[in-house]
Amino acid sequence: MKIITKISESRDEINVFRCVGKRIGFVPTMGYLHEGHLSLVKKCREENDIVVVSIFVNPTQFGAGEDFECYPKDLKKDAALLQGAGVDFLFTPSVEEMYPEGFSTAISVSGISDGLCGSSRPGHFDGVALVVTKLLNIIMPHKAYFGMKDYQQLQVIKRFVADLNMNTKIIGMPIIRETDGLALSSRNIYLNADERRSALCLSRSFALVCEALEGGETEVSEVKTIVENFIKDHPHTRIDYVQFVDPETLKPVKDLTKDFLLALAVYVGKARLIDNNIFKVM
Ligand code: PAF
Repeated sequence: MKIITKISESRDEINVFRCVGKRIGFVPTMGYLHEGHLSLVKKCREENDIVVVSIFVNPTQFGAGEDFECYPKDLKKDAALLQGAGVDFLFTPSVEEMYPEGFSTAISVSGISDGLCGSSRPGHFDGVALVVTKLLNIIMPHKAYFGMKDYQQLQVIKRFVADLNMNTKIIGMPIIRETDGLALSSRNIYLNADERRSALCLSRSFALVCEALEGGETEVSEVKTIVENFIKDHPHTRIDYVQFVDPETLKPVKDLTKDFLLALAVYVGKARLIDNNIFKVM
């Protein structure tokens, strides 16, 4: 695996393969890798000739008071994991390389980025859209892989890739969970043992929704109250949002008679955790 830090070098190296018809696959990450990231890398390895992974903690997607400064990092361990997973290139640019002096461009995706994390973290998806656009322009992959835990992020990326006629196929991959249901996240490192127990309320609330649906409940407000009360019963939790939305538009659904996505964002201690599940309604 070759580690590259410069944009010009990554272009030169990867172009060689593109020019001889090799398929380039790409997994963008912010590092501190876990099995969720590695599942993306595995799929990318299976479906492409050349696998590129980026590690870049992107400052433009963090708001004031968020965890940019203390976002967990372990480049040595990450590089070893990626080497073991058969990655060809690891791209780890500096902030100055990605956003040199004079950088003045913004990208904003309206509609799909307005609600959920878009309301709680103003500007977050502009930052994601900007960095992913830059990374896709730099690597120019045939396919790029993203996890469905960040469901809204995936929809935002699909939107601007289509709108801007970018030549990369965006692949969404299932959420990877611990055996007890906790969705893997680099931010789980912030949880102490007590908080880790409480954090299970996110994934466990999905079973309560299934129960309510099986009992014939179709009122959003009723099921929302069940989920909110369940989460509030767990120590160290503070709800950011509990939203029942259309899986395509991410607009709130009026009732639970059609397929819907339950999207959760909950602070557990200082960790802001997100999780989601699509419910198929017959
Ligand atoms: O999901 C992430 O890790 C980040 O938001 C991404 C897509 C790598 C952009 O910085």
